[in-house]
Amino acid sequence: MRGGPVIAVDGPAAAGKGTLARKLAEALGLPYLDTGLLYRAVGRLALDEGQDPAQPAQQFAERLTPADMQRTDLRTPEVAQAASKVAAQPAVRAALVETQRRFAAERGAVLDGRDIGTAIFPDADVKLFITASPATRTRRRFLQNGGNPDAPDAQARLREMEEALCARDKADASRDSAPMCIADDAYVIETDTLDAQAVLAEALRFTRE
Ligand code: CDP
Repeated sequence: MRGGPVIAVDGPAAAGKGTLARKLAEALGLPYLDTGLLYRAVGRLALDEGQDPAQPAQQFAERLTPADMQRTDLRTPEVAQAASKVAAQPAVRAALVETQRRFAAERGAVLDGRDIGTAIFPDADVKLFITASPATRTRRRFLQNGGNPDAPDAQARLREMEEALCARDKADASRDSAPMCIADDAYVIETDTLDAQAVLAEALRFTRE
């Protein structure tokens, strides 16, 4: 028996999962876990060791500490790519399953990621899949990273970012181990025309259904 509800928030890169999941957790009084940080931290450790993140990285997943997840250098594009590469390895995913399940055991939780509603908590109380067009998601990540849309090189940078983001989505959706996909019983929220408050309102409506 879990001590509270589990809410799964899945979706592609930069869809606004983190923003929503954090607000949802606050509104419902539940703990929040950004599971992307687990994979980012493993990717970061591999890079620190000078290792190609496509090479076996299970050892890094097994020795992951809370401090590794609190590092301030996990949000870079290089680490996002490395995270996607280590995340494709079944042994890495297997090493991180228990941490995620244990996190929700005591009080329930809101967790965001790619496989929360399909692999980690197939029995989650509510499953949300948050998405938006690649152009919207790229613009959000660009602004989030402090990008200036009026800079002369903004268009070129946006194009480059969109390519990287789509390549990562493609890899995440086509890997053999827990690929990103929409759970049959998930509510899909398209966020192209919604701001963060509207997305939260929609998510709360589904949560209370
Ligand atoms: O913030 P963003 O959506 O760009 O990425 P993230 O959620 O921090 O995840 C980084 C990478 O970790 C993803 O591209 C996935 O390859 C991997 N990931 C995963 O495989 N499963 C999860 N539950 C969370 C992240």
